[in-house]
Amino acid sequence: MDARMIFGNFIQSQDQNALAFYPQHYLLVEDGRCRGFYPTLPESLCQLPVDHFGDRLILPGMTDLHLHAPQFSFRGMGMDMELMDWLNRYTFPEEMRYQDLTYAELAYRSFARHLRISPTTRASVFATIHVPATELLMRQLEESGLVTYVGKVNMDRNCPDGLREESVETALAETERWIVDTQSRFPHTKPILTPRFVPTCSDELLRGLKTLQTRYQLPVQSHLSENIAEIQTVRRLCPESEFYGDAYDRVGLFGGDHACIMAHCVHSCDEELARIRQNGVFIAHSPESNMNLASGIAPATRYLEMGLHVGLATDVAGGSHESMFRAVMHAIQASKLRWRLLDETVQPLSLDQAFYLATAGGGAFFGKVGKFDPGYEFDAVVVDDESLDHPQALGLRDRLERAMYLADDRNMYAKYVAGNRLF
Ligand code: GUN
Ligand code: FE
Repeated sequence: MDARMIFGNFIQSQDQNALAFYPQHYLLVEDGRCRGFYPTLPESLCQLPVDHFGDRLILPGMTDLHLHAPQFSFRGMGMDMELMDWLNRYTFPEEMRYQDLTYAELAYRSFARHLRISPTTRASVFATIHVPATELLMRQLEESGLVTYVGKVNMDRNCPDGLREESVETALAETERWIVDTQSRFPHTKPILTPRFVPTCSDELLRGLKTLQTRYQLPVQSHLSENIAEIQTVRRLCPESEFYGDAYDRVGLFGGDHACIMAHCVHSCDEELARIRQNGVFIAHSPESNMNLASGIAPATRYLEMGLHVGLATDVAGGSHESMFRAVMHAIQASKLRWRLLDETVQPLSLDQAFYLATAGGGAFFGKVGKFDPGYEFDAVVVDDESLDHPQALGLRDRLERAMYLADDRNMYAKYVAGNRLF
C-alpha cells in the first residue's frame, strides 16, 4: 500500500454554502484516497513520508465540467457575436481544421500543456467530429495525468459541409468504432457521447446515439438553453417538444439512466429545471462564456438552492481562459451584475458557493471528487501565493479569495490527481 502525509493549509467546502479550513494540518492519503486530517502527526504514523507544503494553500483539484479543446487555439478572439453567428463565423471554420492531424497535433499539444498546469484536475471535454484527431487528443490528455471525459462531436445539420457527418449511418459507425477503440484503452481518459446540440443534430442521429449509449453505458454531454435565438431554433425544429431539454429527453439523452452534463441552462424554464432535477442532470455553469457571447447569465445561486447538480466550467473558447480560478471569479462577478441589473430575488454567489461549484459541485460527476473527506480521491492543487505580496496579516479565507482573483500558472506549486503527483 502507498501511504503518505500531506502537510499545509487545507481549504475545502464543508457544504455548498460554507468553507472549512484546516490550517497547518496533516492529511493522510492511502492508495490515492483521503483518509482523514490530523492537527498533529500521530506517533503511530510518524514513519510515513510527508509532502511538506509549509504555509502554502492546498485546495481540492477543480473540475471543468465543460470546455472545447479545438477552440483553445482561438481563445480570446472573436467575442463580438452571439452564439449562432459566433459558431458559423469563428468556431466551425476552426473546428474544420482538425481534419488535418498535423494541425490537431500542434493545437492539442498546446491545449493539454496548458490544462496540465492549470487548477483543473478533471474535465469533460468536447473534441470535433473527427475520430483520428479525437483519439490523438485522448492520448495527449492521458499523458497529461489529468482525468477526463472526451467526446467525439456528432452533428449532421445546420453546419458547413466540412463539419457535417456524411450520413447518420456513417456517423454512428464511426462513433461506435471510436467507442470500442477507446473505452478501455486509457486508464484516465474515457469517451463521452457528445451530440453538439439539438440545432445541429437530427432526430435520427440522436436516436442512433441513444442506441450506442445503451449498448456501451456511456455518459452524455451537450448544450442546453444557452441563447434566445438557439431556443427559438429548437422550438422550430422540434415543435413536438415541450421545451428544449425535452427534445433530448424524448430520445433518452437527458440523464435518468445515465450520467449527463448540460452546459449553460441560462434560460431554462421551470419545466425544464424540474426535468433536470428529476433526471439528475448536471448543469455546467459557464459564466465567462455567458458574458462573452452575451447569452445572459445563468442563475447559479437559484440552481444550488433548488438542490440541482451544478458545476463550473470555462467553456473555452466561449470562455477565453482555461483557469478555473478565473471561472470562480467570473461566476461571482456575473452573479452580482445579474442580481443588480436583472433580478434581485436571486442572490449573488458567495465565494463559498462559487468555490463549491468549482470543486465538490462539478467533482461529483467523477464520483468522490472535489473534497478531502475520507474516501475521496486525492485531487489537489497547491498554491504558492507568496508573490501576491501584501503588507497586512491575512487569514486563510482572504488568501483563498485573492488567489481566485490574482493567482495564475506562476502560483501553481504542485498538483495531484487521484493521488498521483503531476508536478
Ligand atoms: N452550442 C453549440 N456548440 C457550442 C459551442 O461550441 N460553444 C458554446 N458556447 N455553445 C455551443
Ligand atoms: Fe460549449
